[in-house]
Amino acid sequence: MLPLLSLLQELRRDGIHPIFRQLAEQLRELIASGQLPPGTRLPGSRELAKHLQISRLSVVHAYELLQNLGMLHSQVGKGTFVSAMQEVPEESRGVLTPASFSERQRLPIPHSSLHEMVDICPPQNQLISFLSGSLPYDFFPLQSVREAIDAVLDRDGAQALRYEPSTGYLPLRRSICEHVCSNGIRCQPDEVLITGGAQQSIDLILQALTQPGDAIVSANPTFLGLLDSLCARRLQVLGLPLDDEGMELTKLEEALQKPDRQAPALIFAAPCFHNPTGVEMSLPRRRHLLRLASQYQIPILEDGVFHEFRYEGTPLPPLKALDEEGIVIYSSTFSKNLLPGINTSYIIAPAGQHERFQIIHHAAEVATASLNQRVVQWLLEQGIVANQLGCNLRVMQRRRDAALYAAEHFFPREWRWRRPLGGFFLWVELPAVGPNASELYRQALEHGVSFAIGDYFFARCSDQRHLRLNFTEQEPKRICEGFQRLVRAWKTLVPCEKPLPVHP
Ligand SMILES: Cc1ncc(COP(=O)(O)O)c(C=O)c1O
Repeated sequence: MLPLLSLLQELRRDGIHPIFRQLAEQLRELIASGQLPPGTRLPGSRELAKHLQISRLSVVHAYELLQNLGMLHSQVGKGTFVSAMQEVPEESRGVLTPASFSERQRLPIPHSSLHEMVDICPPQNQLISFLSGSLPYDFFPLQSVREAIDAVLDRDGAQALRYEPSTGYLPLRRSICEHVCSNGIRCQPDEVLITGGAQQSIDLILQALTQPGDAIVSANPTFLGLLDSLCARRLQVLGLPLDDEGMELTKLEEALQKPDRQAPALIFAAPCFHNPTGVEMSLPRRRHLLRLASQYQIPILEDGVFHEFRYEGTPLPPLKALDEEGIVIYSSTFSKNLLPGINTSYIIAPAGQHERFQIIHHAAEVATASLNQRVVQWLLEQGIVANQLGCNLRVMQRRRDAALYAAEHFFPREWRWRRPLGGFFLWVELPAVGPNASELYRQALEHGVSFAIGDYFFARCSDQRHLRLNFTEQEPKRICEGFQRLVRAWKTLVPCEKPLPVHP
């Protein structure tokens, strides 16, 4: 008991970060780093709860979460033990095998950061929100969608309402080949698979190419939907830090060179305007990553969702466009360049992988909504998607510039951020000493402004110093007002800074 207690750090009791999750994260880190080796017996839940002065349920939930990840197992009458991956008993590999409905209802739910983030932000009319990851409603092309639905129904009648083949509507797959060609990606319709959202694509590819316990390489921080899928699929993360050129590859190279370590199953890369940091991967880094993937034969899942959202600088080719070996699987969506509610996205993968992806896709949904696919195809064909994106980009660039102006003028000197050349987000780093992002968040809500707490985007929830601000959500005046509110909230926590100007 004592050695474990000395390894655990103090738990935050801020009401925002669930205690069970913090405990699970700490235990997971101790297991992954070898500080709690396989076979270690963990204290009973009652005993640990008493020592940590938390509820017993929090310990039980934390243990359950790690059991589902295959990192712990329990032996009746003996206790809970750290598992070696290959030693996990069969019965604790999957979720429990409960007999009744009431027992099933107690099965642990995989953790969802997305869910949690939305939950902690109370809806308020007066709130200036920089929280979401999506475009504001007034960007949605309502009239064009109405025309598209009419045109599709007039043209196709009931055909538009049937099940589509699970690979997707063929004319849409053809149009996507033309659409991505302008980004340098050359592909054939039989390499394109339509799915119901890029989040589904990520999960589908993880399901197709990994097994529980596998490690996935990703930048850390990363897209939180990826973290949710990794948790649900019981996968581990090899998190790589980011610099101005994108994911740093040194840690990956070191891991790959260790002969005793199992190679990662997949590399997740978002080279263009990475969510949440906005960083763009340089061309040399892209080539380096491709060389490593090819040398060690590790597939790359490229998330190209923000590729088209550039405000300045020369476009760089996606990894898929540089890929000569067919090692890159490309995923993108119409959620950002058109509207999220259309829920239509695509995977471009070498034809050899298709059958596998298709079968798994079919198990998740018989087919992606037919009407949506036909509407997207009509909008692509009429040039409306490109036109819409062009108009939105001009407005978004003004908002990005307003955010940079407001940050420059109002944010405290010790806050740090990069100039995003594209994408939706300003990623702000708070000073190492002083209030953290969650503390600021609570004060920010009091001052009528919200943002995304950076902690959620980190694989091990260890960072407390970052804020993600979606600058596309608000008009320039509201951005200035929102950033000033944020600084006022900060000053209630750090009161000795110089006073703010009232007007920009
Ligand atoms: C980087 C990234 N990838 C994937 C997705 C998921 O996209 P979709 O809305 O199509 O599921 C998002 C959504 O915000 C995202 O930011």
